[in-house]
Formats: sequence, structure tokens, C-alpha cells
Amino acid sequence: MGLDLAVIARDIPKRPFALVGFLALLLLVPLAATSFNRAIKMLGAARWQALHRTVYAVALLAILHFLWMRAGKNDFAEVAVYAAVIALLLGWRLWRVRRSPALAA
Ligand code: HEM
Repeated sequence: MGLDLAVIARDIPKRPFALVGFLALLLLVPLAATSFNRAIKMLGAARWQALHRTVYAVALLAILHFLWMRAGKNDFAEVAVYAAVIALLLGWRLWRVRRSPALAA
């Protein structure tokens, strides 16, 4: 769309799921901007970790973005694979934290 804002704005009602992708991208920017060792020192480990927990929201938004996009085509097979992988990884983390709560800190 050649970064033409008017063209992009006219496309959004046709593909509202793109807004969810855009929100996910916006949330990733501060994470990318602080993904180097000095940023961890400057923010302090606790604040850095709190900020970087946004990645869980990004993962859910990305799934929603993908699900909404494929809902228009009534094709959920690939979305289900992505969702299952994320559910497995998060489930595994939750299980480890429940076993040793010190890992949550
Ligand atoms: C400005 C931000 C974004 C816009 C405008 C956008 C828009 C789109 C559009 C239009 C499609 C459909 C493409 C097609 O019809 O084949 C799509 C697919 C997809 N997007 Fe995004 N997106 C954005 C950001 C993101 C982000 C940040 C993620 C992941 C974190 C993401 C994950 C995906 C995935 C997994 C698909 C499906 C790809 C496939 O069919 O193989 N998007 N996006």
C-alpha cells in the first residue's frame, strides 16, 4: 500500500484483524528496544522482566490475529497448530513454576 495512510485506513474495515497484528507489533517495539544487556542494567532486572512479560500478551494477540484472519476463510487447522504449541509451552512453564515457585521471581 506504499505506506499511504488513506489507502491503509480504507482497508481496515475489510481486514479488521490487521489492527490486532498492529497492536502486537506496537507492543513488541519496547521489547526490541530493550533487548540488550545495558538496557537490563539501566531498567533493573525486576522492571525489565515486568516489561518483557508483555510478550505473553503479544503471543495471545498474534493467535487472535491469525484466528480472525483465517475465520474469514473458515480454515482453522494451522491456527490450531500454533495455538497448541503456545499452549504447550505456556503450560510447561506454569507446571515448572508450580513445582518450584522460586522460578516465578
Ligand atoms: C502492522 C502490523 C501487522 C499487520 C498490518 C498485519 C497484517 C496481516 C495480514 C493482512 C495478514 C494476512 C495475509 C494473507 O492474507 O495471507 C497477516 C497474516 C499473519 N500475521 Fe500479521 N500483521 C501485522 C503484524 C503481525 C505480528 C506482529 C504478528 C506476530 C507476532 C503477525 C502474525 C501473523 C500470522 C501468523 C499470519 C498468518 C500468516 C500465514 O497465513 O501464513 N502479524 N497479517
